[in-house]
Amino acid sequence: MTKVLVVGSINMDLVVETDSFPRLGETLFGRRFATYAGGKGANQAVAAARLGAQVAMIGCVGKDAFGAQLKSGLEAEGIDTRWVKETADAATGIAAITLSQADNAIVVVPGANHCLTTAALDAAESAFAEADVVLAQLEVPLETVERAAQLAYKHGKPFILNPAPATALSSSLLDSTTLLTPNEFELTTALGQPAADWQILLAALPGKVVMTKGSDGAYFTAANGLLQHQPGFKVTPVDTTGAGDTFNGALAAFWHLGLPEAARRAAAAGALSVTKPGAQGGMPTLAELEQLLEERT
Ligand code: RIB
Repeated sequence: MTKVLVVGSINMDLVVETDSFPRLGETLFGRRFATYAGGKGANQAVAAARLGAQVAMIGCVGKDAFGAQLKSGLEAEGIDTRWVKETADAATGIAAITLSQADNAIVVVPGANHCLTTAALDAAESAFAEADVVLAQLEVPLETVERAAQLAYKHGKPFILNPAPATALSSSLLDSTTLLTPNEFELTTALGQPAADWQILLAALPGKVVMTKGSDGAYFTAANGLLQHQPGFKVTPVDTTGAGDTFNGALAAFWHLGLPEAARRAAAAGALSVTKPGAQGGMPTLAELEQLLEERT
C-alpha cells in the first residue's frame, strides 16, 4: 500500500447549477444549489485513499462548522488528519462554483488555507519521513509548498506538484519537484513561458512533467525523449470539478507502478470522477477503477 502525504487546501464547495453562465451585471435563476467537500488538496487526498493508498494530510481549516464537517469527512475516507490544524484566525476556505452544461467557473476564497505555515510543516516532519510520495498543489502559501518540497527532498521522497491555480514557479521549487502535473495553461505559466509551445516544453523536461489535457487524456515525454500520449477514457460528463485532482491523487497512489501505468490509471480515474456531481462524488474506488480498465482493454 503506497503511503501518500498530501500538503494542501481544504474547501467547502458552494455549487450553483445554471442553464448558462451569467454575463457581467446579469442576474439569472439557478436550477440547484448544493455544498460539497472540495479543495484541491483534500480532493487529491480522497482520490488516493479511495484507490487504496494510505493517506495523511497536512492542511488547515477554520474553527467553524465547515471546518469540522470537512475534517470528519476526510477521516471517514480513512485519511490521517493528525496534521490538519484548526485556526481561529480565518474561516474555512470556500470555493464558489457555477456549474453549467458540465463545465464550471470557480472563485476560491482561501481563508484558513492561507494559515498553513512552514512551521506547521516542520512540526509534521515525521509525516514526510514516513511517506512514500508527497503531493502538493498551490492553494496554500507558496513558501509552504516550497518547504514541503524541501522536506520531501531531505527525506529522499518523490515530490509531485500540481501547479494549480497557475503561477510562475521559482527555479529552486522546479528543481526539487520530481514530477510536475499541469494542464496546458498551468505548464506555460509555471515555467514562466506563456507564449511557448507545450510540446517543446515537454520535450525539454523528459520524465519530469505529465500534462493533462481534459478529455484528451495526458501527455509526457519518456526518458527516451519520445512524446507519449495517454488517451482519455470516454464517459458522459456530469460535473468536471475535481477531475484533475482525481488524476493527481491516482498518480500518487499508483506511483510505484511507474509513470506510463500510473498515468493510464490516473486517466481512467479522472474520467470516472466526472460522472457524478461534486468534486469527490465520482472519485472511484479501486474496484470501480479496475472494472473500467477491464471493460476498456
Ligand atoms: O480542483 C477543484 C477544486 O478547486 C474544487 O473542489 C474547489 O474547492 C477548488 O479548490
